Amino acid sequence: MAATHFAWTSLCLPTSFPGKCDVHRSSSVKLLPRRRGASVSVTANSSESSPKVSEQPVIELQFIGPKPESDGRSYPVEEARAVSGEKLLRTIMLDNKLELYATYGKVMNCGGGGTCGTCIVEIIEGSDLLNERTDAEFRYLKKKPETWRLACQTIVGNKENSGKVVVQRLPQWKK
Ligand code: FES
Repeated sequence: MAATHFAWTSLCLPTSFPGKCDVHRSSSVKLLPRRRGASVSVTANSSESSPKVSEQPVIELQFIGPKPESDGRSYPVEEARAVSGEKLLRTIMLDNKLELYATYGKVMNCGGGGTCGTCIVEIIEGSDLLNERTDAEFRYLKKKPETWRLACQTIVGNKENSGKVVVQRLPQWKK
């Protein structure tokens, strides 16, 4: 069962965006109500009086950008969670209404088939929690940084691992 919820905050990224951010002076934090996802499944056993709770590994995701806040230094960050190995990054982003495509991709994307190359993201942290690049990614991202992925080809987790993945949206917009 998929489990996702998200919130929206702001984050300074001194390492990713040098010179654009002052962590100590940044106090911009916005929170939206969290949607609680069912990250645990409960099974009742007739021979026991209390239900058993089996937890599945979860990947915590942060989505940065794509554009800086009005101060020009901090970046909006949206958060989501997903059960490890159950979903593609594209699906998680669309399920949570997180902006993925630039203008052309919004109207002309291939729907996740790996044939348009418009669902580009950059994995800033946690690439070891994802699958390897697929043939489609080698084709479309041949001359792009190794950290870039196609969200529709990227499986989040492997059903056993857990941890945090940080994703830069629309990295081609980054200066
Ligand atoms: S949506 Fe077309 S390549 Fe990912």
